[in-house]
Amino acid sequence: MPSSVMPTPRQADGPTSPAAVSTIGLRKSYGDKVVLDGIDLHIPAGSVFALLGPNGAGKTTAVKILSTLITADGGQAQVAGHDLATSPDGVRAAIGVTGQFSAVDGLITGEENMLLMADLHHLSKQEGRRVTAELLERFDLTEAAQKPASTYSGGMKRRLDIAMTLVGGPRIIFLDEPTTGLDPRSRHNMWQIIRELVTDGVTVFLTTQYLEEADQLADRIAVLHDGRIAAEGSAEELKRLIPGGHVRLRFTDPAAYQSAADTLHEVTRDDEALTLQLPSDGSQRDLRTLLDRLDTAGIEADELTVHTPDLDDVFFALTDDTDQPKENAR
Ligand SMILES: Nc1ncnc2c1ncn2[C@@H]1O[C@H](COP(=O)(O)OP(=O)(O)OP(=O)(O)O)[C@@H](O)[C@H]1O
Ligand SMILES: [Mg+2]
Repeated sequence: MPSSVMPTPRQADGPTSPAAVSTIGLRKSYGDKVVLDGIDLHIPAGSVFALLGPNGAGKTTAVKILSTLITADGGQAQVAGHDLATSPDGVRAAIGVTGQFSAVDGLITGEENMLLMADLHHLSKQEGRRVTAELLERFDLTEAAQKPASTYSGGMKRRLDIAMTLVGGPRIIFLDEPTTGLDPRSRHNMWQIIRELVTDGVTVFLTTQYLEEADQLADRIAVLHDGRIAAEGSAEELKRLIPGGHVRLRFTDPAAYQSAADTLHEVTRDDEALTLQLPSDGSQRDLRTLLDRLDTAGIEADELTVHTPDLDDVFFALTDDTDQPKENAR
């Protein structure tokens, strides 16, 4: 296995830890359309990194560049300690890629797909069979192994896809939208698989449109927008970037609305909808203080809703502009 060229994966973070992937000013354009406009990444070995972005943001383009399938127009990138430009073979030996669209050949069986990968990785016949049996078992595909892959469900195909990616024992894997099209149960199974990979020390670079997925899996998340990283951090850090939680009070009686607006501090008024919004961390203590104040003033709201920011808010805040419908070409 070429894994000997890899530094030992470590959980440590920070600029001194070995980076599984690092890029500076990565650029890519198609014609006069700039897709990546200077991307800087530092992904520590042994971590999960999620690249989030709306359709057409350039997620697949980034994965293709970092996995040597296409070349960048500018910038530098190192993957597994190898420079993309000068040592693409070194990169290829250390990584596995599960593309956005399945690489499974439907005409042959799951097992044959796996053995084909083993051949591509120059494993001996015996080693190929051993690895294949082990991975099929691990991904719960042993029973279906002798059936044509075209008969597999979406979830089974996706599992086979990832099993095939693991045949070469990669230390870094790229998963381009690993759970798109999967039902909730299959999605959770896939998350479990990804967590197990990380436990084994594999670095995972995934792209997703599901904020919950990034929240569940990723140590660090970057939001790609207009060719740049609009924000990067842990899920918690990103949530802190946008205005915090709030409580919304809705009234039907304009007089009650008015006296609440006069009584409470720091409110944002919506005179048409008769709603008031005020900052709150959503805690019991905070809500009790608010309710006490309303009670004391003899004011009753018709509805009270508590809103705590989630990654969706971050995503919409960062990628919210008028160009959203522009990318419906596919
Ligand atoms: N080979 C190509 N030739 C021309 N334009 C391309 C090519 N590949 C990608 N693009 C364009 O680059 C942009 C980014 O595409 P990319 O596939 O990287 O987006 P994405 O974030 O993966 O989107 P999705 O969420 O839909 O998978 C899109 O506008 C796309 O049309
Ligand atoms: Mg894509």
